[in-house]
Amino acid sequence: MPEKILIAVAWPYANGWLHIGHIAGCYLPADIFARYHRLKGNSVLMVSGSDQHGTPVTIRADQEGITPAEVVEKYHQSFLQTWNQLGISFDLFTKTGTLNHRETTHEIFNTLLQRGYIYKESMAVPYCEQDTRFLPDRYVKGICPNCNNHDARGDQCDHCGHPMNASELGDLTCRLCQNKISIRESEHCFLSLSKFENDLKQWLSDKDRWKPNVLNFTRKFLDSGLKDRAITRDIQWGIDVPIQGFENKRIYVWFEAVIGYLSASKEWSSNRGESDRWREWWDNPDAKSYYFIGKDNIPFHSIIWPAILMGFSDLNLPHDIPANEFLTMQGDQLSTSRNWAVWVPDFLERYEADPLRYYLSINMPETSDSDFTWDDFVRRNNDELVGTYGNLVNRVLTLIQKLEGGVIPSPKDRDKIDDELMTYINTSFEEAGKHLENCRFRQSIRTSMTLANAVNKYLEVKSPWKKEAQSVSTTLWTCSLALSALAIMTYPFLPFSAPKLFSMLGFKNDIQTQGWNLPTLAPGTAIAQPTPLFKKLDDKVAKEEIERMIGKA
Ligand code: MF3
Ligand code: ZN
Repeated sequence: MPEKILIAVAWPYANGWLHIGHIAGCYLPADIFARYHRLKGNSVLMVSGSDQHGTPVTIRADQEGITPAEVVEKYHQSFLQTWNQLGISFDLFTKTGTLNHRETTHEIFNTLLQRGYIYKESMAVPYCEQDTRFLPDRYVKGICPNCNNHDARGDQCDHCGHPMNASELGDLTCRLCQNKISIRESEHCFLSLSKFENDLKQWLSDKDRWKPNVLNFTRKFLDSGLKDRAITRDIQWGIDVPIQGFENKRIYVWFEAVIGYLSASKEWSSNRGESDRWREWWDNPDAKSYYFIGKDNIPFHSIIWPAILMGFSDLNLPHDIPANEFLTMQGDQLSTSRNWAVWVPDFLERYEADPLRYYLSINMPETSDSDFTWDDFVRRNNDELVGTYGNLVNRVLTLIQKLEGGVIPSPKDRDKIDDELMTYINTSFEEAGKHLENCRFRQSIRTSMTLANAVNKYLEVKSPWKKEAQSVSTTLWTCSLALSALAIMTYPFLPFSAPKLFSMLGFKNDIQTQGWNLPTLAPGTAIAQPTPLFKKLDDKVAKEEIERMIGKA
């Protein structure tokens, strides 16, 4: 039976270009996982969309001098283009501005309200006398009660990831005019997180297979006691609150954005004219949901979203939340405001998608932060992709053209060295799959590169180009088998070059129909004239790119 795999990917704020940190943090791992499961024949539903509400978007609109709706449209379009160019294969990438999302949010909100999980209460809200307005979330700054960071926002501390109500912060100031804020009373809706504390603890008790960083963060958060959280705001941009007297308020962006996973699944279903199809991933105890997010999003997915779901119905809770750590850049934190980042649309104007996917995979911030440097990118491209892997492909295919008349040869008498490589191909293939299954992406792509290395060595030992070489056909057949294994093993990571290799080896079917199986070679099949899979980058590239960045920063 094919498994049902829901791949839920963090919704990027539609307030700026995507940078490599976003890609390494969640979009690339999610896509690798989706491609692997599709190859295995499982039913994958991979959804996300633009997170278009909240203060991240209104602040950007003020900076660019355009409306929030214009900001959203601009960046949403750029996201779609980035997915396309980078091969991030969403089944649906929508936005939080759809009618469907608003209705789903209202349904959940109303249910929680009726059940007493949402209640109204007056609260003290930061207000700026200068700007004559309330100051939610990113409009204020203050001292984090958890880690003492002096630059915390009103809803979450960037430094330690702690979510909170603005009134918990020390020494609040207005980010618009830098003045001290005053406080006004305003009525808001609260999500009764405290009521879910025990159920959440219970739910977490068997999650030992989660990544330690995700589990530890969540357990610590729970152990410190859950506080009820305000889920409405005094702003105009966002989803309306379905309660009388709240006409001038909106639903807090984080309360509704996480609901997007469900509403997007519904939208995907109705787009296909099968309006109940989403239930296969949500209302089915055998389905598994994986939430791919960056580490700053952990509490929203491991506490708040599960609490909302528990209060609403018995739809599936997250099966796993394989959150990544951060990617830094040349040793420094990525920063939009300091323009310290590699912007994906800009990168793709000069370089191809697969080398970036490769670099971010083999250097993925899976268990600790990792660093992007241009030198390392160029080195890995030239030494590993071009040198080890691309070269191997080229050598083997050229030898088959020269020595075997351009067709896959038949293996004859295998010796011990051939057998050893055969075994190694098989175990590498299995190992690469196991790593993928467990979201260990870095290890999986390493397994492929180690295999490519081993085949290079084997080829050296056998030297089929030498006059005195024995069993040339067996050697080249074994190499072809290794290449076909590598095509499948690397497909989730390198979706542009893997199909090229697959078809150069003479396979006529689409690689996606091959399944996660070691292909069977048919001796006598004509192979193609090899063309290079990857391009060598000039050593100047690293220096030039750093200069570009510094010039711009
Ligand atoms: N927009 C948020 C961010 O960029 C992520 C939201 S994930 C969600 O950090 F799905 F929960 F919305
Ligand atoms: Zn903090």
